[in-house]
Amino acid sequence: MCNTASPVLPQPGDCAAAPVIGTAWTPTATKVALLGSGELGKEITIALSRLGVEVTAVDRYDGAPAQQVAHNALTVNMADPAELLAAVRSAGAQLVVPEIEAIATEVLAELEAEGVRVVPTAKAVRLTMDREGIRRLAAEELGLATSPYIFATSLEGLRAGAEQVGFPCVVKPVMSSSGHGQSVARSAADLEDCWRYACEEGRVDRGKVIVEGFINFDTEITLLTVRHRDPVTGQTVTSFCEPIGHRQVEGDYVESWQPQVLPEVALRRAQEVAGQITEALGGWGLFGVELFICGEDVLFSEVSPRPHDTGLVTLASQRFSEFELHARAVLGLPLDTSLVSPGASAVVKSPVETGDVAGVCFSGLEVALADPQVDLRLFGKPTAHVGRRLGVVVASAEDVATAREKARAAVSAVSVTV
Ligand SMILES: Nc1ncnc2c1ncn2[C@@H]1O[C@H](COP(=O)(O)OP(=O)(O)OP(=O)(O)O)[C@@H](O)[C@H]1O
Ligand SMILES: [Mg+2]
Repeated sequence: MCNTASPVLPQPGDCAAAPVIGTAWTPTATKVALLGSGELGKEITIALSRLGVEVTAVDRYDGAPAQQVAHNALTVNMADPAELLAAVRSAGAQLVVPEIEAIATEVLAELEAEGVRVVPTAKAVRLTMDREGIRRLAAEELGLATSPYIFATSLEGLRAGAEQVGFPCVVKPVMSSSGHGQSVARSAADLEDCWRYACEEGRVDRGKVIVEGFINFDTEITLLTVRHRDPVTGQTVTSFCEPIGHRQVEGDYVESWQPQVLPEVALRRAQEVAGQITEALGGWGLFGVELFICGEDVLFSEVSPRPHDTGLVTLASQRFSEFELHARAVLGLPLDTSLVSPGASAVVKSPVETGDVAGVCFSGLEVALADPQVDLRLFGKPTAHVGRRLGVVVASAEDVATAREKARAAVSAVSVTV
């Protein structure tokens, strides 16, 4: 018995300290502020809570999925620096875990300078919220292979850039995710529409796009990469999950599976690329490194410094899901990235045609879940609009093809009704 114990959060670069976790809702609590409270944040919250951490879930609207399971909830405009700073301070957080890109990242640097640990680092969060920051780091500083690209701030600039990278090309706002504002130009005649679409749908910085040459990849993968504390030496080490294959429709993920088998050389190169980009971003945590595989060649596409939507499959396929790995990594705990079974995920989307509808219902669940190898997450989003991701089915099976069939069959059995 000891009544003077206090929590210890080891820091990357500090070999000596082993983690000590306090008790939520007491003066010893190990406190996390989660910035963004969607479906990925909900699973991160559950993983952290299971390890005794006190979580304050922050979002811009009330009743967001992670807020429903966190110890505390705050609703603020996270793009506003003063509001964001006040929220993190009032949570008393020792750790800030961003779940989304659209936040006032300058505040994170300020918090980091004060000794609050930002996961994985404030620099990583700032660079990855903007396609320009991460692409220039990957291609121009680290020399990683990527699609050919040009940034443009006007339609004329886009026309010149498209001629340079060639047709077809992909036009994306520099600040956007889930395919928002992204379109493919097959010829110069399409560029005006692409420019307008990117400007309408992009986040914050409306007038800047990246135009990329279209890559005819064989496969695209997410390589979940974890930077974490080696329990023996205290040093930072990097571990890789098995590659995840996925299918995107209009830039948004609809289905993923693990493992995606790659040629041996391509797998080694993919791990090298993921190791380099995550080392440059630094800190501890799980990263979703998106790569295009062309034969034995690997092109870097982008990286999330946090769990990735395509990684939801790991709820069915790994010893520890990507959320549990993230939680362990940020706390400085040992972890294991092993696959235990081939698996697949498929997304339940809202069929609602117009506007935002509150309180949709899900039926067909007895059919969807009749197979014991199938599991379901319903996110609890308070409202649904067309195409919004409301849930996910995950399945395990003896091989990936069977797991994908099971996940697809289960998703088609689920009805979303207003
Ligand atoms: N240069 C390219 N060539 C071919 N396909 C591409 C290219 N860029 C993007 N894509 C396709 O569009 C998808 C989404 O692109 P990207 O990942 O850049 O956008 P995003 O909005 O960040 O998406 P998300 O947030 O879902 O990861 C990719 O997963 C890929 O399928
Ligand atoms: Mg992506």
